[in-house]
Amino acid sequence: MSVRPALPFRLLQRSLKAASRAGSAVVERVLRSEVEAGPLRAPTKESKGELCVQFGDKEVRVQPGATLLDAARQGDVDLRYYCGGNCSCGTCRVEILEGGKNLSRVESMEAFVLGDEHQRHGDRLACQATVRGPVRVHIPEWF
Ligand code: FES
Repeated sequence: MSVRPALPFRLLQRSLKAASRAGSAVVERVLRSEVEAGPLRAPTKESKGELCVQFGDKEVRVQPGATLLDAARQGDVDLRYYCGGNCSCGTCRVEILEGGKNLSRVESMEAFVLGDEHQRHGDRLACQATVRGPVRVHIPEWF
């Protein structure tokens, strides 16, 4: 399941108002059905500003700036972090399936711990990657 940001909903609402003002019944009907369909619904008060991190079937909502490790812990996702999130063990390495651009950039220490191959593959250390938008993550098998 993907998370829709609030912007498309607002654009949809504005378009609906514009279609109403212009008297375009067909466009208005199509837009209204989109609004009522649900997936582009307005964010609830509780979900405002929260971002979705998806680990397999589990969705966790976090505030912007939380790390992937914060999200995993918050969602009770089984993700190992032997160094306590200090960017030294590499056990929190995850594969980013979608939304890699929605994470903070890789800093030098993270790049060192990840190694060239995993970095080229787009993997991240969950304790270092902060969330700025929706992300879909896979936790690799270690043992
Ligand atoms: S928890 Fe050790 S590197 Fe992330």
